[in-house]
Amino acid sequence: MRLETDRLLITLLKPENWPLFLRVHQDEQCMAWVSAIPDDEELQKRFSECLLPWFFTSDHMLCLVVRQKKTGEAIGLLGATAEGYPYCQVEIGYAFLSQFHGQGFGSEALAPLCEYLLHHCGFHKLTAHVVEGNWSSRRILEKNSFLLEGVLRDNRLLRGRWKNDWVFVRLR
Ligand SMILES: CC(C)(COP(=O)(O)OP(=O)(O)OC[C@H]1O[C@@H](n2cnc3c(N)ncnc32)[C@H](O)[C@@H]1OP(=O)(O)O)[C@@H](O)C(=O)NCCC(=O)NCCS
Repeated sequence: MRLETDRLLITLLKPENWPLFLRVHQDEQCMAWVSAIPDDEELQKRFSECLLPWFFTSDHMLCLVVRQKKTGEAIGLLGATAEGYPYCQVEIGYAFLSQFHGQGFGSEALAPLCEYLLHHCGFHKLTAHVVEGNWSSRRILEKNSFLLEGVLRDNRLLRGRWKNDWVFVRLR
């Protein structure tokens, strides 16, 4: 599998992408809106699961690496976790190394992922849970035709404080 935009190449996670996986999950700025920094054992477990072959009925996450075409440098990760038949829904996630934030890469990478999930895999509904206040995440979803469907109050414990989640949805 390979997705492409003007500036980016997006491909399946491979064993050699462990350094990127580690860097993203240990990037304090990047993880500030996601979770606590996972410990090494937890990260190894997640990485192994992400390497499993993915089909749209899989329980585990599809994990993709985003790299810049110009430099070949890996800059972030995209994820998609399906709720298969009969729901036809998939939850997306994304995290880019903080040094690459604010350059339009997030919005650009999300576009072909959405197309792939809706039109190649055949999902009916894409969802994203965003911690309330994560405006850059909200903005890239809105730029990719997601609409705010509601707020889940105290939906996750982030660094010792309960946080609301915005639920964003895009329908086929
Ligand atoms: C969320 C993330 C993927 C966005 O990627 P990015 O490449 O930085 O985003 P882009 O540069 O494409 O777009 C960011 C948009 O948010 C806007 N933005 C940034 N901070 C903002 C703020 N405080 N208020 C309002 N808008 C803001 C920018 O202006 C830009 O919008 P524009 O294109 O209309 O100017 C990236 O910041 C990231 O990896 N964050 C850490 C992990 C994370 O939060 N993941 C999401 C979990 S739901």
